[in-house]
Amino acid sequence: MQTPLNILILAAGLGTRMKSNKAKVLHQAAGKALVEHVTDTALRLTTPDRITVVIGHQADRVRDLLSARGVRFALQSEQKGTGHAVLCCEGAVPEHTGRVVILYGDVPLLTLATLEKLIRLQAEAAVSATALTTHLDNPTGYGRIIRNAAGDIAAVVEEKAANAEQRAVREINAGIYCFDAALLWKHLHDIRTNNPAGEYYLTDMVEILSGNGHRVLPLHVDDPSELLGINTKLELADVDRILRARKARQLMLDGVTIERPETVTIDEDVRIAADSVIEPFTRILGKTVIGAECRVGAYSIIESSTLEDDVQVNPFSIVATSYVSTGARIGPYARLRLENHVEAGVHIGNFVELKKTRIGKGAKAQHLAYLGDSTIGENVNIGAGTITCNYDGKKKHQTKIGSNSFVGSNSTLVAPVTVGEGSYVAAGSVVTDTVPSDALALGRSRQIIKEGWAKKRREE
Ligand code: UD1
Ligand code: MG
Repeated sequence: MQTPLNILILAAGLGTRMKSNKAKVLHQAAGKALVEHVTDTALRLTTPDRITVVIGHQADRVRDLLSARGVRFALQSEQKGTGHAVLCCEGAVPEHTGRVVILYGDVPLLTLATLEKLIRLQAEAAVSATALTTHLDNPTGYGRIIRNAAGDIAAVVEEKAANAEQRAVREINAGIYCFDAALLWKHLHDIRTNNPAGEYYLTDMVEILSGNGHRVLPLHVDDPSELLGINTKLELADVDRILRARKARQLMLDGVTIERPETVTIDEDVRIAADSVIEPFTRILGKTVIGAECRVGAYSIIESSTLEDDVQVNPFSIVATSYVSTGARIGPYARLRLENHVEAGVHIGNFVELKKTRIGKGAKAQHLAYLGDSTIGENVNIGAGTITCNYDGKKKHQTKIGSNSFVGSNSTLVAPVTVGEGSYVAAGSVVTDTVPSDALALGRSRQIIKEGWAKKRREE
């Protein structure tokens, strides 16, 4: 089937009821802007050059957000209605043949399966258009579906223009359509603004098409939540919850164990391999990738990071923008703050913070340390309380610790500084100069013993 499919995503509106300075489609649910969800669904149906996003409010921000996906944009500088938004795409779409699917930037729950059904119905019935409908207990605010005797859609009547009888109709227009492209572009200019809002209503296409002897078929969606459009922050929270529940469910079906799934927050683009265990109240965000047989402990946050297989992140830890290799053990209460690379089998224990640090195979920093801007070799032992002094008040400096060396507890390493391979730093040292390989560095005052001092004091 070589019929080209173009998809138009209407995303120019502000969304006044969000009570926000940010355009509605930029608000996030499940870690992605609403318009990103819709665009990503569209990308599963057609190629990027056949997706046109109508932008208006905060056009630059919407364009910046989506441009890497390679889609087209049509600017609607003044929002004169959904029909006008489609008119703005007339010159932007690559061809006026095949099919055109219209999506809204603020309806992110719509599934690929439903859209495929809508397109299939239009193709198989060979009708001018198909539209998604559903029944709502409270249809207020939506366009009502008026069917003819054959069950086709004869008209969509907007709330403002509806009479009492029409308002009582509970079948509503979702605003999602599949049009025969030639008929859409031919009749689009017939839309007038003779309605209470003075707008170009795309919904008028239904009457225009049927007036010209063409059929428009409804596709009824049984689960109305799929068609939820977002108008308020309250609805945003509902959609966020639904998206995350869907994500958790899919992961579980793919073999991931999630304990108390209703408590976890997992972004849509996260990938987790089978047999990993996700404990309650975790947040796994961004484009995080987690391998097989990992464990993410309760209350941990993993953000935009990669965990290879068999990584254990114990409770209350944070791993952000970091790479953690196989067999590593992190936490509890560890913080991998920014751009760290933890190699295989490393142990990072409680109250250890890493920043821009690479730590080699089998190395251990088990308790109470700050390791920043540092490169640490294999099998190094970092004692409790070790601090890299990476900042001199103006600039950041590097610390290098060679493989198989031992940094005693409570040492401060004043960067820039290098500790050679196989060397020892005595506990409590302040290291300011290079430590040669295989050496012992003592950077502390000698211990003094005053015999009998304590006993004497007690007797005083
Ligand atoms: C629309 C439908 C209504 C349907 C409802 C479903 C029309 C006339 N009405 O009404 O039948 O029940 O959706 O949610 O189409 N947009 C633009 N440019 C514009 C106007 C809107 O890009 O000039 C975008 C908005 O950003 C939004 C979408 O189109 O993403 C829908 O616009 P909205 O104003 O919410 O339409 P409704 O009044 O909800
Ligand atoms: Mg709306």
